[in-house]
Amino acid sequence: MNAQGRMHASSGRGRFITLEGIEGAGKSTHLAGIETLLSNRGIPLRITREPGGSPIAERIRALLLDPSITGLDATAELLLIFAARAEHLAKTVRPALASGSWVISDRFTDATYAYQGGGRGLDPARIALLEDLVQGDLRPDLTLLLDLPAELGLRRAHGRGDADRFESETLAFFERTRAVYLRRAAAAPARYRLIDAAAPLAQVGEQIRQNIEPFLDAWRG
Ligand code: TMP
Repeated sequence: MNAQGRMHASSGRGRFITLEGIEGAGKSTHLAGIETLLSNRGIPLRITREPGGSPIAERIRALLLDPSITGLDATAELLLIFAARAEHLAKTVRPALASGSWVISDRFTDATYAYQGGGRGLDPARIALLEDLVQGDLRPDLTLLLDLPAELGLRRAHGRGDADRFESETLAFFERTRAVYLRRAAAAPARYRLIDAAAPLAQVGEQIRQNIEPFLDAWRG
């Protein structure tokens, strides 16, 4: 149990690690490094992402990211995200953890607090209700927050080509999003590790390694 009395994916089951950050933080790049780190230790691994990570959830993802969809109601967006999450948990995350695999998800519910709560301004208490409904007791064991200034993140993201529905949001949206991530990380230091994602790539990779290895040592014995 953690400080809130919730059970984490633990003892006998796989560990659940999530990667978070605003656009341009480099999550996808660093996922590959984390995969190598864990695979080298013989840890069975399932890499996944949100929104998405199962066939139906990937279809909901396509809808959520489609830049031709304009004016989607913020509560409808929130419900679509949790609908995708319910599918993802049922079809991918829970079975993998139950079989002893570790799961690394590129984004999870912290992103909902950051984007829908911070960015869109939805009440976090409503997000918490859906979190309990959809996840029950399941919470990540460890969350790496790849943090960088919103302006730099957006510049990097826009350099990648066509913007999706979220990447088309304003700088102020991503500043609010980042602020919520940082607040959540400060409020739960046992679960979060803050990574300076504005640093050069190799240094970010090294920070991630240094932050993950103690957990591997502790969890693998
Ligand atoms: P990405 O995984 O390629 O970064 O894109 C997913 C987008 O979806 C990203 O802009 C953040 C957004 N998102 C939310 O707004 N809420 C969520 O709960 C999740 C998981 C993602």
